[in-house]
Amino acid sequence: MPARTRTRDNRLDIHLRPEELRETLRRDVRAGLTATPKTLPSKYFYDARGSALFVDITRLPEYYPTRAEAAILARHADEIAAVSGADWLVELGSGASEKTRRLLHALEAGAGLRGYVPFDVSAAALTEAMDALAQEFPGLEQHGVVGDFERHLPALPHPPRGGTRMVAFLGSTIGNLDPGERARFLDDLRGGLAAGDTLLLGTDLVKDTGRLVAAYDDAAGVTAEFNRNVLHVLRRELGADVDPADFEHVAVWNAADRWIEMRLRARRDLEVRVADLGLAVRFAAGEEVRTEISAKFGREQVRAELAAAGYTPLRQWTDPDGDFALTLARLDQA
Ligand code: AVJ
Repeated sequence: MPARTRTRDNRLDIHLRPEELRETLRRDVRAGLTATPKTLPSKYFYDARGSALFVDITRLPEYYPTRAEAAILARHADEIAAVSGADWLVELGSGASEKTRRLLHALEAGAGLRGYVPFDVSAAALTEAMDALAQEFPGLEQHGVVGDFERHLPALPHPPRGGTRMVAFLGSTIGNLDPGERARFLDDLRGGLAAGDTLLLGTDLVKDTGRLVAAYDDAAGVTAEFNRNVLHVLRRELGADVDPADFEHVAVWNAADRWIEMRLRARRDLEVRVADLGLAVRFAAGEEVRTEISAKFGREQVRAELAAAGYTPLRQWTDPDGDFALTLARLDQA
């Protein structure tokens, strides 16, 4: 049973405790830094500083995905709400975004909004977002879930009195998973849903390589700082003696896998000691550690991956420039 606390009239289920998060970090970092080639999971970018840097990224001239997705929602949220027929919104990796508000308002104007289930790894971000929404949507039932969407989706709360859910997974966060991980994610999510529920999936689309790379290697160097932030996290959380300035930000388009890779490249021969892991890791000058993949999709590919996972694609929307897609798909049988 998850621990349960209350915020106002609302509920917060905690599947993931801070100690557990640390244990997962320790395991992931040990595995990644002792592998060849070296890797670090992108989910560890998002401490308070990393989350703030990501918000800065979304405002960069080069980083188009957030604006493109917002444009789709501004134009089509009402239609999305109507086609979904949902009265509950579940949002994976919720944060405190205005995209949520758009969808909630659209659902409110449609079949009648009853509840909101924000799902995030950060309890602090969740309680803050829930408190703010409680002011703006007084009758809204909120049921927050602190969890990791790679582990806790089967425990997604079901709405009471037989409601219908739309699960929003926006921002192309699904692109941070490789194809096998995406299939597992869609399968796990299926396990937490019921027939008639829908998934609204945001995906960045394949485009000109120059624009793709620029979006992950901006002129102001914000993405470089965001990338190096994972090293700040290792210093603080695991006592690593790494100097982030010893690593250079690298963003490349991997054409074979159709994803952007972010890497950190050692500027010289060096050794990183991770005190809490009793681990010493050598880097040769020029050696890279991969910190993120961000897959880019074709419109048809998105529908095919959803169909292969047992979801029926209902409709797909893009922004006027064709940079980004939102796809709504329904689970016909759980
Ligand atoms: C959080 C998944 C939307 O992959 O584009 C932004 C993270 N990384 N710049 C993405 C990110 C580098 C971002 N998402």
